[in-house]
Amino acid sequence: MNLSRHTQAVKPSQTLQFNKKALEMIRAGIDVIKLTAGEPDFNTPEEIVDAANDAMRRGYTKYTDSTGIVELREAIARKLCEDNGLDFDPGEIVVTNGGKQALYSLFKATINDGDEVILITPCWVSYEAQVKMNGGKPVFVTAEEVDGFVPDPAVIERAISTRTTAIVINSPNNPTGAVYSRQFLKELARLSADHDLLVISDEVYEKLIFEGSHESIASEEGMKGRSAVVNGFSKSHAMTGWRIGYLAAPRHIAEEVAKIQDHLCSNVNTIAQHAALRAFSVDNTRMVEAFRKRKQVLSEGLQDMGLQFVIPRGAFYFFVDVKGFLGSDYADSLELAIAMLEKGRVGVVPGSAFSYEGYIRLSYATSEDDIREAIQRMGRFFGEITAPPS
Ligand SMILES: Cc1ncc(COP(=O)(O)O)c(C=O)c1O
Repeated sequence: MNLSRHTQAVKPSQTLQFNKKALEMIRAGIDVIKLTAGEPDFNTPEEIVDAANDAMRRGYTKYTDSTGIVELREAIARKLCEDNGLDFDPGEIVVTNGGKQALYSLFKATINDGDEVILITPCWVSYEAQVKMNGGKPVFVTAEEVDGFVPDPAVIERAISTRTTAIVINSPNNPTGAVYSRQFLKELARLSADHDLLVISDEVYEKLIFEGSHESIASEEGMKGRSAVVNGFSKSHAMTGWRIGYLAAPRHIAEEVAKIQDHLCSNVNTIAQHAALRAFSVDNTRMVEAFRKRKQVLSEGLQDMGLQFVIPRGAFYFFVDVKGFLGSDYADSLELAIAMLEKGRVGVVPGSAFSYEGYIRLSYATSEDDIREAIQRMGRFFGEITAPPS
């Protein structure tokens, strides 16, 4: 029986797999510390849970407009205006099953077979898979550690061909924590205009920022018509399981996405939509401050171990250079991450999951106690590795 070439070209998500393996070990009674997950460990704020309960009691349990309830799209439009200086109207906004589905639908709506999409590595696992599942060809541009993992616009420009239709950016960045400057966004805006490229801007970590401020490329002059902004509630309001996100895009693209939504899922869970509406008035400062503290603890621990990394400015990850531990006991970051889990009892994600060898990603979306214990374990684990030949 036939299988799709497009899905066969794709591997399962390595981040989800590592997280699953760590969870299985924990369930089997093995004492593992999980620095794998890309999700806040906090509960969803009470007010949001109450809004969901209210919605159910008030009978908001039916289908909605496939693009989302109008009150939520209006609230998103207001948020985009107030926080990001963007002028999208509710007709240019689609509420989706997480930022993940927003991205998938954007690729589906804009890629024709063989079109090239530029991805900046290290990059989130799903971009490559989603581009391929939609018949596109990912073209990778490397962001270097010495540049704080911010890509060089000249290198991006060299990767543009006549088949390039879009570029994906992600700031604050998973896995590096890089936050792109206004200057970089200006240069990217110029490239977008010169080469007629759509910029897909994944801003799901917008509210988790420790240094600098979040800027949306869509607010650059002339960029509203060339940008699709993706955001959501998973990371900002500890709502990963509710599966709710959104996109704002030029009307002709939003309308294509609305058709996809019509035929794919009808609408996002109605109760989650009402809960998300409440999220706009919930302050997440407490979470950001907790992350800031944990970041400090992990940063000091990694420094004491002599490990090298760029201090993250946003999101909740460290992307740590482990090249010095590869080449003898462990060939690559995947082998190292497996050993860290099985022998060191610390779950991390290998850099290869982000198309970037020689690194591991540590999530600090876990308790401070766990972070301190993970530091002890990593110290012992790294101390036992045979030094590779120099
Ligand atoms: C960079 C990035 N984009 C998008 C997402 C999707 O998040 P969600 O679908 O939960 O909104 C994630 C989740 O880990 C992510 O790390």
